[in-house]
Amino acid sequence: MVDDAAGLGLSGRLVIVVGAAQGIGAAVAQRLSKLGMEVICADRQDCAEVAAQCGPSASAFQVDVTKPETIEALIGHARSRGKLFGLVNCAGLLLRTPFEEVDEAMMQREIAVNQTGVFYLTRAALAEIQAGGAGGRIVLFTSQGAFTGGFFGSTTYAMTKAAVGALIKSLARMGAPDAITVNAVAPGGVDTPMLRGGMSEADLDSFRQRIPMNRFAAPNELGGVCAFLLSDWSGYITGSTLHVNGGQYLP
Ligand SMILES: NC(=O)c1ccc[n+]([C@@H]2O[C@H](COP(=O)([O-])OP(=O)(O)OC[C@H]3O[C@@H](n4cnc5c(N)ncnc54)[C@H](O)[C@@H]3O)[C@@H](O)[C@H]2O)c1
Repeated sequence: MVDDAAGLGLSGRLVIVVGAAQGIGAAVAQRLSKLGMEVICADRQDCAEVAAQCGPSASAFQVDVTKPETIEALIGHARSRGKLFGLVNCAGLLLRTPFEEVDEAMMQREIAVNQTGVFYLTRAALAEIQAGGAGGRIVLFTSQGAFTGGFFGSTTYAMTKAAVGALIKSLARMGAPDAITVNAVAPGGVDTPMLRGGMSEADLDSFRQRIPMNRFAAPNELGGVCAFLLSDWSGYITGSTLHVNGGQYLP
């Protein structure tokens, strides 16, 4: 049993982390496990290794958020493990492409993961958390790009991530009567495979130099932010976006 003298209220609660195979999602899963949560590590890729690192109460499940039948199977798996308290969605797709070269297939792939997939995932999770009758938490990842328009070939990604801002507000109102909060995290640069994909060292340097803290976030720092948004400490925050960007974008 994890000591909860601080009153976070996370210990023993069941949470699904989607996108847990790598990057931010893997770090979130590990941080929540350390705080005593029972974590279901879900991803399109195999996350058995991450689940093993999280410890014996964690499990791994394969889900593709663009395939609603796999979302239903994931919720069924959660039900078999107990009462679902939380969902953190870190699954995301960024196809860095110069504006002039974006085609219909790319656009649809990004929409399917970042927008439609998140809709079906959160709808299923919200219903399951509501059925538990004990309140809960939903945390979705948007991006600084949704507020700035994006850089380095990320226009369509920024568009799809902006949709998360409307979704959390809509769901926040639906969840509030059942003490379910729904919030978003908007990171700037976080040092993960997504950040580095398709970026030259020169691009990365120029991005870093525009961050007042002059560094990218470590994935584990986003783990702490998610822990806060899942905890009893944040029970009255809903429909909000937490900007985590080292001072680069200040709304
Ligand atoms: N890294 C950054 O700088 C940054 C900045 C802003 C926002 N974000 C957002 O944070 C979240 C996590 O980003 P990351 O950097 O860890 O990305 P990442 O690409 O390293 O990891 C994303 C994970 O999502 C999974 N995934 C992709 N499509 C999926 C699908 N259809 N179904 C299930 N899983 C799927 C991948 O397999 C992968 O494990 C994303 O939503 C991303 O858009 C990241």
